[in-house]
Amino acid sequence: MSSKLPAKAKKAAAKEITVKGTNIVPKWNYSKSIEDPSHIKLKPKYDLFINGKWEKTKKYFDTINPSNEEVISKVAYAEGKEVDKAVNAASKAYDNVWSKISAKERSKYIFRIARILQEKAREFSIIESMNGGKPVRESKAVDIPLSIAHFFYYAGWADKLKYAFPGQNPKPIGVVGQIIPWNFPLLMAAWKIAPALACGNTVVIKSAETTPLTLYKLAEVIEEAGVPEGVVNIISGDGATGAYLVNHPKVKKIAFTGSTEVGKIIMRSIAGTDKKLTLELGGKAANIIFEDAPIDAAIEGIINGIYFNQGHVCCAGSRLLVQESIKDIVVKKLKHRMRNLRVGDPLDKNTDIGAINSRMQLNKIKEMVDSGVAEGASMYQPECTLPARGFWFKPTFFTEVAQSNRIANEEIFGPVLSILTFRTPAEAVEKANNTFYGLSAGVWTDKGSKVFNVLSKIRAGVVWANTFNKFNPASPFGGYKESGFGREGGKQGLDAYVSL
Ligand code: NAI
Ligand code: MG
Repeated sequence: MSSKLPAKAKKAAAKEITVKGTNIVPKWNYSKSIEDPSHIKLKPKYDLFINGKWEKTKKYFDTINPSNEEVISKVAYAEGKEVDKAVNAASKAYDNVWSKISAKERSKYIFRIARILQEKAREFSIIESMNGGKPVRESKAVDIPLSIAHFFYYAGWADKLKYAFPGQNPKPIGVVGQIIPWNFPLLMAAWKIAPALACGNTVVIKSAETTPLTLYKLAEVIEEAGVPEGVVNIISGDGATGAYLVNHPKVKKIAFTGSTEVGKIIMRSIAGTDKKLTLELGGKAANIIFEDAPIDAAIEGIINGIYFNQGHVCCAGSRLLVQESIKDIVVKKLKHRMRNLRVGDPLDKNTDIGAINSRMQLNKIKEMVDSGVAEGASMYQPECTLPARGFWFKPTFFTEVAQSNRIANEEIFGPVLSILTFRTPAEAVEKANNTFYGLSAGVWTDKGSKVFNVLSKIRAGVVWANTFNKFNPASPFGGYKESGFGREGGKQGLDAYVSL
């Protein structure tokens, strides 16, 4: 191979170099499969984005690349004082500007955000993968385009609210506080900011501990779009920062996506106030494969259902319910497919499974997998070499899983699938519903009537037929039971951001 390379490339290939955000690869390879992050514009230090200005704080924390543990930037930590400043800025912007301008004007700003994001899509994809560990193929195909689509979609609603609420008089609420997790940073921000602005509210949004960077890049986009100062305020910090935001008296609505545990804390802490609340929490979705399903398509659906974004997905198909008659063939084909998954550098376009988002999450996944083994389930992992540095976990599945096992009940939030079997559609429904959660579910079958019959009996907010993990800004997303309440996306996504 090397004899055909030009002399320059041969020299570069011989010399291994390290570039921030990648593993060690020969330079000439970049044009082939590794995204080159060297042109990405990232500041060594990010201040808070409050009232259209960059605000310094007392404390800063490191944000790292989970695929190599290198520090990418320092990021400001917001304490109560800064949260207060951000909320006051949002409140002033609401009173003086955002509630006074026309819906058409609001729409124009949201469209501008979408268009500028479109121009910077590649940069955003690379940063999302560097900071979060997800394969760049996914951030390019899913995270960033969907985020943009949400801004476009809600820009369109801004001046049509009276059609969304016919015969009613939808009014904005005021300042909304938004708290997002680390698994889809820009996308979760888009899900929350776009409808809030469309309905005429102003925003204070807090990024998650490990993934603040694309939100600060979004702040730059908001500046560039000329959005009036204070309309969107972006801060970073931890749970304490989030708690200040939740409990601030001027915050009229909270939108939270994250763990069920924190969702419950938030609900308790605002009880007795008139704050509006939407919670999008965990899940333990059933992905149901019937014996009449198109098997090869279902195998792809299983893979996408659980290994997409390393399984850091609230609606992941983490419980596979397979009809007993086809269990052996499904397990065999699944193993074969898994042996072809590439685990490695998130910036390699050929990577299927990237890095685990944090050491903390890796420890949680290991603990859950250990519990599966200890409780007697049988584990499969394909052979693959994991990079020496960074946080990694092999794609994994368990068979011989009992319904009482922890791995069948608790959200693992990693690339770990629990396989259970069923005999009849009624048993599939019963097992699918045997969970505290109710976020999503999928069914694979050749029969349309079975799709409707089974899915109509499953208590999950989002259901898929012969596909999985498909999203669209026009469809509402949200859960039942301990997966939370309220819907994001679609016309229903406007409900939480208006008072009638
Ligand atoms: P988390 O729920 O603690 O964090 C989510 C967001 O809430 C972050 O921005 C965090 O700073 C903020 N937060 C934490 N405590 C808060 C409080 N008391 N008041 C207000 N905001 C608060 O989730 P974490 O610790 O990152 O992950 C723990 C587990 O939760 C994961 O292992 C996973 O199982 C689950 N999880 C589920 C998600 C989902 O979308 N279903 C998203 C993230 C985590
Ligand atoms: Mg937490």
